[in-house]
This record gives sequence, C-alpha cells and structure tokens, in this order.
Amino acid sequence: MESITEFDLEKTSYRSRFMGSINGQDEGTTLQLCGWVHRRRDLGGLYFIDLRDRSGVFQVSVGPDWTDPESLAIARDLGAEDVVEVEGEVTLRPSDARNPEMATGEVEMKATRVRLLNEAVTPAIPVFRSPEEELPSEDLRLRHRVLDLRRAEMQRNLELRHCLVLAVRNYMDGLGFFEVETPILTKPTPEGARDYLVPSRNHPGEFFALPQSPQLYKQLLMASGLDRYFQIARCFRDEDLRADRQPEFTQIDIEASFIQPEDLFGWIEGLMESLAAVAGREATIPFPRMPYGEALESFGSDRPDLRYALKIQDWTEALGTLEFRVVQGAIEAGGRARGLMFEDGARLSRKQIEALESAAKAAGAPGLLWVKRTDDGGSGPLSRFLEETHYEALGMSPGDLALVAAGPDSMTSPALDAVRVPALTALGVEPTEEDAWLWVVDFPIFEEIEDGALTPAHHPFVHPHPEDAHQLETEPLKTRGQAYDLVFNGVEFGSGSIRNHRPEIQRTILRHLGLTDQEIDHKFGFLLEALTLGAPPHGGIALGMDRIVKDFLGTPSLRDVIAFPKTTAARALFEGAPTPLSDEELRELHLQRFGPEE
Ligand code: AMO
Repeated sequence: MESITEFDLEKTSYRSRFMGSINGQDEGTTLQLCGWVHRRRDLGGLYFIDLRDRSGVFQVSVGPDWTDPESLAIARDLGAEDVVEVEGEVTLRPSDARNPEMATGEVEMKATRVRLLNEAVTPAIPVFRSPEEELPSEDLRLRHRVLDLRRAEMQRNLELRHCLVLAVRNYMDGLGFFEVETPILTKPTPEGARDYLVPSRNHPGEFFALPQSPQLYKQLLMASGLDRYFQIARCFRDEDLRADRQPEFTQIDIEASFIQPEDLFGWIEGLMESLAAVAGREATIPFPRMPYGEALESFGSDRPDLRYALKIQDWTEALGTLEFRVVQGAIEAGGRARGLMFEDGARLSRKQIEALESAAKAAGAPGLLWVKRTDDGGSGPLSRFLEETHYEALGMSPGDLALVAAGPDSMTSPALDAVRVPALTALGVEPTEEDAWLWVVDFPIFEEIEDGALTPAHHPFVHPHPEDAHQLETEPLKTRGQAYDLVFNGVEFGSGSIRNHRPEIQRTILRHLGLTDQEIDHKFGFLLEALTLGAPPHGGIALGMDRIVKDFLGTPSLRDVIAFPKTTAARALFEGAPTPLSDEELRELHLQRFGPEE
C-alpha cells in the first residue's frame, strides 16, 4: 500500500495540493491548483499569472501553444484577486527566468486549462505590493480586513497563533490539565475594568456581564475537585485601549490545587520554553525572580525590561545637602532624590533631553533634573549646585549624564521608568540579544487611593504572603500577597497568585476594600459558599495569548495577531459594530435610550 504523503492531506476535489512548496523535484508532474490571482502580466498573448494560496505564490504561464483557447480567453480577462483553478505540468523555468527571491522561483506551470471559479471586484487595498510600497493606513486595512488578511504576513501571524495555541493545549494536556469551558454570560467579575453588559430579555432590568476573566469560575472548579484546569479563554473589558490592549482578548487561563508559587513557576517556565521554541526563540529556564519592592527600587517599574541592565540610584544622601529648593523641599517632605547615570551620556542633545523630560512629565512628574559633567565643571539645570564631591558621589566622570527626579517614590518611580530605556535607546545602546524573562513576585495585596481607601493591587482573591499573613487585619497596606507577574522584555505576559481558600481570610480582604458583609454576600456569596464547602489550597495564572503572539513575532500592534480586532475607538470596522438598536428592539430588552448629556 502506498504511504500517505502530506500532499494527499492537502488534496481536495478542486486541487492536488497547496502550491507554496512546489520545486524542481516536482518537474514533470501534472497538478491541479487553486488560488487567487496575485498578479498577472501580459506579454502580448502570453500571460504570466502569479497564483496565491495560503502557502505561497506560484507562477503559472498561459500561452497559445499549450493552453486551450477558451482558457486563454479567461486568462486574458483575469484581474487581481479573481479565484481560479489551473491544471498543467510543472516545468523548470529557463535559467534566466528563475527567481531566487521566490520559494517556488525555479519552477512554473504550463497551464493547459484555466477555470474561473469566482470574480473579484477591483480590490480597495492591494494584496500584491512591491517591496517599496507602503502599507495602507490601519483603519483602511481594518475596513477591508478580508483583503488585508490575504497578505502573507497576516497569514503567517495567524498560522503562528494557531501553532502556539495548539502547543499550549498539548503541553497542558501533558501535565494532566483539563480544558474546561466557563460561561460567557456571567455575573460581573471584579477585575478592575468596566464590564460589557448583556440585558436579559426574560428578566426585565437584569443583566449578564461578559467575563473580564474566568477568575471566579476557575476557583469554583478547584473547589469542585478538578485539580488542574486550563482554558484558552476569551475575556472582555470595556477599558481605554492602547496598542497592547483590546476590549476582547484571549488568555491562557490556568488554575491548580495544592500548589505553591514555585510549582506553578516550573510549569509555566516549561510552557514558555516550548512556546518560544515554536516561534523560533529560546527561553532560558528557570527565569529569575525579583521581589516587587526591588523591581520598583531598581527600575521604577513592576515590569522592568532587563535587556537593559542600568539601575536607578538613590541619591538622597548625595544630593540632600544641595542648596536647591526643588531637591531639598522634596526630601524634607519625605521624598527621595533618585536618578539614572548614563556613562558617556553627555552626547545627548538638549532636544533629546527635552524629549526625555516630556516623557517624565507624561508619567506624572513635575519635571526632570539633569546634569552633564564636563572637563571643567558641568552643564544643565543641576550643575550650578554641584561641587566636585557631588559628581564623585554620583559616580560621574567627564562626558557622563545624570537624570534626577526628586519627590515621593510614587512619582519618581514612574518618571524614571519612563526615561530609562528611551534614554539608553537615544544613546544607541542595544538591548541584549537574548530575551529577558522575569518573575516579579510578592506584590502587595492593596494599594491606597484617595482618603486612605484601599483598592486591590491586582484582584481581591490574592492570598497573603506567609510572612505577612499575621498583619492582614491590622496592617493591610504592608501585607504582601502571594502574587506574581511574568514579564517578557518589559511586557507583562501574565499575572497570577495563590488564592484565599479559607473563607474568613477572603472576607477580611473584602472588608478592607470597604464592602459591608451584606455587599460581600451579595457580590461574592457564591464564591464564599464554595470556600466553605472544603476548597483546597489553590492558585493560578493567566497569560495574555495575544501579547505572546505579538511579542514573539515582534509586530507593532495586537491587531496584527487578531483576525478581526477592534480599533482604538473600540469599533469593528469590517462588519460595522457596535450598531444602534431600534426603539422596538430596545423595548423588547426593557431598555430606554438616554442622550449622552443625561
Ligand atoms: P490580568 O488582568 O492581569 O489577570 O490579565 C492577565 C493577562 O492578560 C493579558 N491582558 C490583556 N491582553 C490584551 N488586552 C487586554 N485588554 C488585556 N488585559 C489583560 C495580559 C495580562 O498579564 N484573573 C487574573 C489572572 C489570575 O490571577 O489568574 C487576570 O485576569 O497579558
């Protein structure tokens, strides 16, 4: 019996195989191929058609000596993106007609027959582009997404996404995790963003929420004894959009019972190692761990990009004696003077430094101080206050630049984070070639907002750190949680924690958030009930699937790795959503229209 080849798997009633891998070894084979007219050239009665399917492009030549007249007439009238079926023999191209740029460039098909399967109107955006031609604007590409998705880059992005999702499923299955689907019509989940709400027609005035994440359901599954759960889960958040956020996105959502953070870290490192390999990258495991406090102290960020080693320095002591109100006043008010020292950084122009200052201001700082050390003193706003001993204390030699922020840490950290990598980039410092993976651990459970009110640093289900658990009741702001983030080259890939499996600890945390017992029972009664039924210790993580695909590919936007994404204005441009409802439709849902001013 003949063995089945990959081409047999590609075969359908219309075609023998995909065309992207046809090469010299196929010479003499008669094939039937289907695809889109990528480009058609007319050499006076002889036609060259670059035919495209999802696997690649292949040249088909149509001429009076080998093509039947009817097919010749079809070829004459073909336009870009028409869909055709061709049949003929694969031949080697004459040596001067071979195209080394093209995977199938040494061969072509001499088509005996051409059949038009469907006509295309003139495409609004071109699928075929010469290398010099720029991409159309993103809005135009999203409006004409079907054409845009035909581009090889987009097909490659979606293919990699498929391969990564498949690898996740295989890996998690190998560890004994079950994929369980959790509801899409849910009760509002408190993940911090606004919910998308769905009115209930059967229950006037009542609403479902689309899940911001399956957080509570995965905890219920642990209480239900599932032990190891994962899901490629769609999540919905009505929040302000940026390049790394979509209102509808996908998580690799994971939860397991009877675990400590290290159990999970081992699994996730293995998962990331295998996903990186699928994308042609290497992930060196284990990943380093860094406490949240240290990340903020050294990098001003809970997701530092460790491809750049430069750390923030505390110069409070070194600069505390300056006769400079800006610095002194900040320190007297309980703040610190912190900064970054760039060896050879005095090369930056005033304009470049001004751009850094703007970045610091955009991050909430009133300004950014700086000094360049020169052979005979210094320049910049700080220089007239500095003596030789100060330069020494800052570790500055002639030619160096220091950027300084003075104030509370809550201001200096984001400001210095906002300038650290941009300044290094402006100085031409390249990131390390190796990707920088990092676990940031021991996040606080709470953050303080106005009037001393507490809000969850992440979400309210985080278990206190064993060393801090005793002070949860009395010192909530000082209580660290068993919470962790996975960071890849400065991007938060994932976030998770060990959860509260004991109902009384969960209730204490919810009370700290200002909820009354009645509110707690109303919002979280079902979770607390599950915890009273004998919930095992458990924890988990969720990783942003879209971000992983985007950053593994190095594409600029999440929209490049989602087939039908939303714009930054949260609209779907191809299908045209959201849409207004008629009065009748609204009435059926028991909804009333209010103007924006109401
Ligand atoms: P979190 O809210 O941190 O945690 O989300 C986990 C990961 O999901 C990705 N992500 C997003 N990706 C694209 N667009 C968005 N709008 C968006 N929001 C989040 C990020 C992020 O790290 N239930 C918890 C997880 C847990 O504790 O197990 C949660 O959802 O990569």
